[in-house]
Amino acid sequence: MIGFIGAMQVETEGIIKMMTDTKAETYAGIEYTTGKLLGKDIVVATCGVGKVNAAVCAQCMIFAYKPEVIINTGVAGSLSNALNIGDIALGCCSIQTDMDTSPVGDPLGLISGLNLIELPCDAATVEKLEKAAKTLGIQYQIGKISTGDQFVNSNERKKFIQDNFGCIACEMESGSIAHVCLMNGVKFAVIRSISDKADNSSHMDYGEFVKIAADNSIRMVKAFVEEA
Ligand code: ADE
Repeated sequence: MIGFIGAMQVETEGIIKMMTDTKAETYAGIEYTTGKLLGKDIVVATCGVGKVNAAVCAQCMIFAYKPEVIINTGVAGSLSNALNIGDIALGCCSIQTDMDTSPVGDPLGLISGLNLIELPCDAATVEKLEKAAKTLGIQYQIGKISTGDQFVNSNERKKFIQDNFGCIACEMESGSIAHVCLMNGVKFAVIRSISDKADNSSHMDYGEFVKIAADNSIRMVKAFVEEA
C-alpha cells in the first residue's frame, strides 16, 4: 500500500478521481480513500493545512492502513532560481524551519527526540520520483524542503529560510509527515509543484497558479505509480 497525503482538496481530488474500487473511511475528521490506481493499492487523504493536521493524518494513516511509504504531494512556494511556476521540487529531506529552541543552545530547526534537523526522504523512492519527472519531461530539482506553520509571503522570511537552511521550496506539511514517519519506521517522500515565489506577492501568484501547480503534482503521482 502506498499512502498519499495532500493538504487541500485541489491537491488530492485528481488522484481520487483516477482510482477504482474506492472505499472511504474517516478518522479524526479526516477522510481516507482506499482503492486502486493503475492496479496498485493506494490510500489518499486530504489532511488540512499545517503541521498538526498533517501529523494527525499521517499517524492515523499508519495505524489504519500500514502503508510501506507515505508520499506528501501538493504545491509550494519556490526558494530556488531553478524552480518556476509549475516546476517540481522533490525533497531529499524536509526541515521544520519554524522549530527554534536556539535560546537554550540548540541549532535552529532541531527536532527534539529525533535529534535531527533534516528529516530524510527514502532514497529509492526519490529515485523513482526523479524517473517519473524525467518521463513527463517536467522541470524538477531535488533539494531540501522547508515546512512551517506560515504561508511565506515576504522577502525577509524567504531569505531567512534560504540563508539558514538552504531549502529550495517552502510549504506547511511535509516536515511533520516526515517526523511521524520517522517515529513509526515508515518510508517518506515529498513531491511539490511550484505555485508562487514565496515573496511579497506570493499570495497573488498562489491564487492564480495553485490549480496548475496542483495538477502537475498529480501528474507526478500518476507517473510514479505507473513505475512503482
Ligand atoms: N504553499 C504554496 N505556497 C506557499 C508559500 N508561499 N508558503 C507556504 N506554503 C505554501
